[in-house]
Amino acid sequence: MSDNPQNRFGAENGASGVMQSRTTGTSLFGRRSANAEAQTVPARTTANNTTRGSVASLFSKRSNLVASPAVTSSVGGVSNTPRDTPVRNADHHKRNGNAIASVMRKTATPARAQFTPSDYPGITKLAIASQRAGYDSVAARNPDILPTTQDRLAVQSRTVSDAQYRRFAQYIEDQSGIVLGDNKHYLVNSRLSALLLRFKVSTIDELINRAMQPNVYKDISSAVIDAMTTNETLWFRDTYPYLALKNMILPELARSARMPVRIWSAACSSGQEPYSIAMIVQEQATALNHVNPDQCQIIGTDISPEMLDRCRFAHYDNHALARGLSAERKARFFKPTKDPNVMRVDDKIKNMVAFKQMNLLGSYSLLGRFDVIFCRNVLIYFSNEVKSQILSKFSLCLNPGGYLILGSSESIQGLSDKYEMIRCNPGIAYRLKN
Ligand SMILES: C[S@@+](CC[C@H](N)C(=O)[O-])C[C@H]1O[C@@H](n2cnc3c(N)ncnc32)[C@H](O)[C@@H]1O
Repeated sequence: MSDNPQNRFGAENGASGVMQSRTTGTSLFGRRSANAEAQTVPARTTANNTTRGSVASLFSKRSNLVASPAVTSSVGGVSNTPRDTPVRNADHHKRNGNAIASVMRKTATPARAQFTPSDYPGITKLAIASQRAGYDSVAARNPDILPTTQDRLAVQSRTVSDAQYRRFAQYIEDQSGIVLGDNKHYLVNSRLSALLLRFKVSTIDELINRAMQPNVYKDISSAVIDAMTTNETLWFRDTYPYLALKNMILPELARSARMPVRIWSAACSSGQEPYSIAMIVQEQATALNHVNPDQCQIIGTDISPEMLDRCRFAHYDNHALARGLSAERKARFFKPTKDPNVMRVDDKIKNMVAFKQMNLLGSYSLLGRFDVIFCRNVLIYFSNEVKSQILSKFSLCLNPGGYLILGSSESIQGLSDKYEMIRCNPGIAYRLKN
C-alpha cells in the first residue's frame, strides 16, 4: 500500500474528499492560542503581520521611553529627575513629550478614553507602566497628549455594540456550534480587532455585518469564525488517552486483525493530537500485539483552514515542542530544519496522517467508519443539544466496539446512551454499545 495518505484516504473518502460547511457550503475558518501563535506560521497567516508590526512599533516606543532617565527616575511616583541638567532635560522632555503623547493617545486610562485591556492587548501593560512612571501628571499639564476625538472614535470602532453582539453570538452558534454566552463582548472585541486592518473595515459592527453575509464576503466570514475558535493544544495532552490507546485499544484491534485500523482526530487544531496518535502507533510497532503502521489510517479534521495549513506544514517551534513532548520522542520523531528554533515532523509520522477541513455540525458521511474517534476539548464550547447530535453522529461512523475518547472535562452523561463507559485507570473511554 502506498505511503501517501492522500492515496490511502482518497478511495475511502469519496472522489473529492472535500468537506464543506453545512451552512455556507464554503470553507469556514479557524484561531490561535498562545501555543498556536508560538508555532511556526505558514504563509496563510501573513496577512496579520501588519497588525503585529504596528503593535511591535508601539513596543519599540516603549523601549525608548523606558530607557529614558525622565521615565526611570520617576517610577513609583517619586520624581528623582536630575535638576542639574536643564538644557538637556528640556530637549529630552520635548522629545519624550511627543513620544509620550503618542503612547498616551493609545493607552489612555479608561476614564479618559474608555480603552479596555482587549483593545490593545499588551499595550495595557505599557499604559500601566506609563502611569507608574508618572505620565499621568505629564498628561494633565499638556493638552496635546489628551485623547483626541479620533482616538475616541478609534476605541468605539473596536467595540461591538450590544445589539450587534447578540446577532453575532447567534450567528457564530449557527455556523460553528460555539456558544459565546451573554457577556463576551471583550472576547469579540479583542479577537476581531485584528481583522479590521486586514480587511480594511473601519468598525467591528461593520465587520460583523459583512461576516454574516458569507455569500458576499466569504473570506471575512471565514476569518471571523476562525478568529472565534480556540486552538489550544499540546502533544500527548492529558497522557491517559494515549496510555489507553497503547495499552488497551491498539492491542484489542491487533487481536481482531482489523485492517486498516482507522483513527479520527476530530477538531485536531494545529496537529499535535493526530501526530501524537501516529507516534504511539509507531512506538507499538514492535510490541507483541501491534497494529502495523502501514495499515493505520489517521485522519485529522478541523473547521479551521489556517490550523489545517499548520498541520500539513508540520513544523513546530521550540515553544510548541516543549509542551508535552519528551526528549526521546523529539529525537525520534522530529527532524531539524534550517531554523535552529524549529523542527519538522518526520515523514514516517507525517505520512500516516491525512488532514481535511470539516465542520462538526455538518455531515460525516464522506469520512467512512472508524475504530477510534478522538474528539477532545471542543464539545465544551457547544450547547447540550449540539453535543448530543454530534455524539449520535459519531456513533454512526464507529465500527462495532469502536472507541470514543473525549476531553478530560467532557462527558456523555445525559447526552447519549449509545456508549458504555470504560474505566482505563487512569481516565475514561467510551465504547460503542452493541
Ligand atoms: C481547543 S482545540 C482542541 C484541539 C485538540 N483536540 C486537543 O484536545 O488538544 C479546539 C479545536 O476545535 C476546532 N473547532 C471549533 N469548532 C469546530 C467545529 N464546529 N467543527 C470542527 N472543528 C471545530 C477549533 O478550530 C480548534 O482547533
